[in-house]
Amino acid sequence: MTPKRVLLTGAAGLLGGVLRRSLGGQFQLRLADIVPLEATGEGEESIICDLADAAAVEAMCEDVDAIIHLGGIPYETGWPELLRSNIIGTINLYEGARRAGVDRVLFASSNHATGMHPNDRALSGESPPRPDSRYGLTKAIGEDVAALYAYKHGIRSFCLRIGSCLPKPDNKRALSTWLSQADFVRLVQVGLTADYVHEIVYGVSRNTRSWWDNSAAFRLGYQPQDDAEIYAAEVGAIELKTELARNYQGGNFVPEEFSGRKEWLD
Ligand SMILES: NC(=O)c1ccc[n+]([C@@H]2O[C@H](COP(=O)([O-])OP(=O)(O)OC[C@H]3O[C@@H](n4cnc5c(N)ncnc54)[C@H](O)[C@@H]3O)[C@@H](O)[C@H]2O)c1
Repeated sequence: MTPKRVLLTGAAGLLGGVLRRSLGGQFQLRLADIVPLEATGEGEESIICDLADAAAVEAMCEDVDAIIHLGGIPYETGWPELLRSNIIGTINLYEGARRAGVDRVLFASSNHATGMHPNDRALSGESPPRPDSRYGLTKAIGEDVAALYAYKHGIRSFCLRIGSCLPKPDNKRALSTWLSQADFVRLVQVGLTADYVHEIVYGVSRNTRSWWDNSAAFRLGYQPQDDAEIYAAEVGAIELKTELARNYQGGNFVPEEFSGRKEWLD
């Protein structure tokens, strides 16, 4: 079933804005965020909703065919905030989707769910999580929440381990992890229309230096068009500062608060 009515959480954020601009017109968009935002496009409506409020989330999920779940905290911070917005928020979202009979949920996971793997390891969506932060762990947990609601409750779940979705790469690491905004929209279109049960893919462009085997996404129809390599001359000399950040997939998240044993990280 191709969805008509789509709920976008985190709609006031960076990636929410990208999707709003590109999906508006194709879908009826319900824009939701904890901060106010104005519905201005045709077929748009807006809702203020805290993802930690289960009853409000349940009401927000009514009468939509698909949900793109971008809402949450996208950086490292303390447990209470991350628990509330990212873990409780994602559980509430999937439970609301189940109660409302929503067909599919696209979940914005992150490369930081697997950030403690070394850069020379070609990960796929089947590679096990190795979170590089509390934030990364919230994304790994979200992928498992997605699996519960897919296999147990029949909600198609598409988890995007997003790399670095920026207008353009800003350092050498991003030559591997960059996801252009146009390719992000292409991948979301696949998530909205393809046939899958519980899929984990990487949100990455067709970068020459990509660390990730994204064949599952290609099989479902993802055809990325952009390659970060065209920025290599501009940003290729901009290295991350520490050895851990340079050698492990999570970049600067890896050395932050690190108190582990480097020999365990291969
Ligand atoms: N931008 C990237 O490159 C990138 C990379 C990996 C993963 N992601 C993930 O993609 C999603 C979107 O990222 P972004 O860059 O647009 O982040 P963003 O911070 O710009 O947007 C997130 C939005 O979520 C909202 N939010 C936070 N807590 C909330 C709550 N309790 N209830 C309701 N709304 C809440 C915020 O108000 C914000 O508008 C995030 O989940 C992030 O973890 C992004």
